[in-house]
Amino acid sequence: MSAIHVQPIGYALGAKVTGVDLSKTLGADEVSQIKAAWTKHLVLVFPGQDLDPETLIAFTRHFGELDDYASQPFNRHPGHDEVMLLSNKPIDGKLPPGANNGQNWHTDLSYTTRPAKGTMVYCIEKPSVGGDTMFANMYLAYESLSPKLRAFLDDTEAVHDVSLISARRDPAIMEAFKRLNPPVVHPAVREHPDAHRRALYVNDRVRTFVGMSDAESKPIIQFLCQHSVQPRFVYRHRWEVRDLVLWDNRCLTHLAVGDYDPREFRHMIRTSTMGDYHGRLENPEAAKAAQAALKAAAATSQDIVAGISSLHD
Ligand SMILES: [Fe+2]
Repeated sequence: MSAIHVQPIGYALGAKVTGVDLSKTLGADEVSQIKAAWTKHLVLVFPGQDLDPETLIAFTRHFGELDDYASQPFNRHPGHDEVMLLSNKPIDGKLPPGANNGQNWHTDLSYTTRPAKGTMVYCIEKPSVGGDTMFANMYLAYESLSPKLRAFLDDTEAVHDVSLISARRDPAIMEAFKRLNPPVVHPAVREHPDAHRRALYVNDRVRTFVGMSDAESKPIIQFLCQHSVQPRFVYRHRWEVRDLVLWDNRCLTHLAVGDYDPREFRHMIRTSTMGDYHGRLENPEAAKAAQAALKAAAATSQDIVAGISSLHD
């Protein structure tokens, strides 16, 4: 009998899970318990885990198809394309491209046609203070809107634009990033396939609503972004080294808080599972250009990383 224990750590969302060693092959019963807890609590924190890229990948595969991060070849783990580096730790003396990822409210990979389902992040080093991650419950954000606004959003699509990511990347890498990821269209509200609840799918990376002008869209987007992240919907995770945190991108937005001493290291590795849902490109003509950029990036990603890193000298 498994000794997995699930302890809620926030009212809006979040639970701590103990009694399981994620570096070992999990049994079907353990996976089933973790999935049930994940559906209920949205964010699961597994403290005191001993993981490396291989065991993180193995754990991730229990939750779906692994993303190979072809959409962003600039900050992958050397030797593991399926592992992203979230790190300000210099590589060859240079700041890595993913040093300041995710510092506005977002849901992972919504700027692709196949946004992430789950994200797993393992903390290897952390600053002495700060560098937390905040999560907002988008079920609660949606359910607390008026019926009229919910009805409008139920029938609305939103354009997600990679140029709205917050990372302070240099222009060359940002241009390559935009070529790889042209704007995509997703519903403004998505129903979770397991929880059968509807969640708001609008965040800081939404540029406009389909069929509406920017002038009409922006005030509503701005309201929704402010509404969805009010403190009563939020859990703030203070990282500990060896935490593995698993979150659900279908019903959450999150933000990496950049409030730490940049001379200290915040070093984490991340994997994602690909969602079952597919969005579409805002401009279908952009598909060919994105494919060409993808091929070019796959062939030269190491050169791009080296070239971009040299710009930080
Ligand atoms: Fe993120």
